[in-house]
Amino acid sequence: MIEVVNQEIGFNKVFKDFNETKCRYRVAKGSAGSGKSVNVAMDYILKLSDPYYKGANLLVLRKTEDTNRDSTFAELEAAIIKIFGASYYQNIWLIRRNPLMMECRTTGSRIIFRGMYDERQREKIKSITVKVGKLVWIWLEEATEFEESDIDILDDRLRGDLNEINPNLYYQMTFTFNPVSASHWIKAKFFDVEDEDYFTHHSTYLDNRFIDDAYHKRMMRRKERDPDGYRVYGLGDWGELGGLILTNGEIKNFNITPDNFDSMTIGQDFGYNHADAILTLGFKDGDVYVCNEIYVYEKDTSEIISLAEGKLDKNLIMWCDSAEPDRIQMWKRAGYYRAQGVTKTPFQQAKPMAGANKKSYINSQIDWLKQRKIYIHPSCINTIKEIQQWKWKKDKETNQYIDEPVDIFDDAMAALRYGCTSQMQQRTSILEVL
Ligand SMILES: Nc1ncnc2c1ncn2[C@@H]1O[C@H](COP(=O)(O)OP(=O)(O)OP(=O)(O)O)[C@@H](O)[C@H]1O
Ligand SMILES: [Mg+2]
Repeated sequence: MIEVVNQEIGFNKVFKDFNETKCRYRVAKGSAGSGKSVNVAMDYILKLSDPYYKGANLLVLRKTEDTNRDSTFAELEAAIIKIFGASYYQNIWLIRRNPLMMECRTTGSRIIFRGMYDERQREKIKSITVKVGKLVWIWLEEATEFEESDIDILDDRLRGDLNEINPNLYYQMTFTFNPVSASHWIKAKFFDVEDEDYFTHHSTYLDNRFIDDAYHKRMMRRKERDPDGYRVYGLGDWGELGGLILTNGEIKNFNITPDNFDSMTIGQDFGYNHADAILTLGFKDGDVYVCNEIYVYEKDTSEIISLAEGKLDKNLIMWCDSAEPDRIQMWKRAGYYRAQGVTKTPFQQAKPMAGANKKSYINSQIDWLKQRKIYIHPSCINTIKEIQQWKWKKDKETNQYIDEPVDIFDDAMAALRYGCTSQMQQRTSILEVL
């Protein structure tokens, strides 16, 4: 057995059978924060470091290759450090960032990171080579992003006799995801059919002993305000895909330096129990680029200002939620001299509208956002999560969507709306001239 330096590491009990199964497909659906990603990362690091599985190699996939860096790669790196200790892990694992790759120095096992976004990325999967042994394990993180045809390509990779390499090896694909839609192919393929090759699993944040009280409270708020979202992200039950507000977002790796854009701004939605979300936005040819994000819970303004040092450009306009002028003042004093509150009126109106309600204000911004492409840098993992979940409310009686956004887990979306204020105003003034 391998020598684990850190004796503190622990698994959540709910994953015991999941970690032990040798079924070809092990499929973990679960709520947000149920511990799926951390569990799979720790499970694989332990196995790949263990001479018992010598010859095993792991392919880690996100639909978009670049999103690996801040999700699966970061998770696996954290698992290595936790298991072997910060001062010792480099003796056991070699970690390369460019391109992403990990190699266990004792077993020779490798972890390779790829995507399946387009033909080019799919082709790269066919040509993967390993140093020792064979590719035997594949982890599809956020598996609902994949298409069923992607699985056929991967299945082709996991073939051939393993006995000659090491009789302890077995082929396996691991799926982790939130069950966003009952009409998803993953449900039909793995959950609606009994097959001895399938091991399906369910977990919720309540199974995760490492979740703190604040997370529980946020979930309870979501249960109240967004019952549909709570079903998926709180209970880990199959939900439905409809009602998404912004479907024009695209995760894309792009150069975030200022020369790349016509203009740039910052948007901030203040929060403490909710997230405080700050986005740097770039604008080019009418499209919006989300370049970086700060997304933190339960931090004072001064702590957030420290976090922002070196990450945010103090010369940019920072559009903030106008409800908290004291916090805007603190940002100004910290050198963000162009920090200012947004005026919450529908921007198409030349003058603030008497009795303008919050709903038409937000809806006018949504209309504006819908008319362009929103490119999101892969490092903005919380913005990506929010845009994929931000939905219209449902009328309780008719069960139809209404034109009012669900007002929870929308902090990055608020920062996005605020951050576009200058661009929205430009359009208003053109309309006024006309
Ligand atoms: N075995 C563990 N040891 C220590 N902390 C853990 C463990 N499992 C989970 N956690 C904590 O719980 C948090 C949520 O876990 P994780 O990110 O794995 O959830 P998830 O099921 O992947 O959520 P999502 O569906 O949102 O991706 C982690 O950020 C970590 O702080
Ligand atoms: Mg996860």
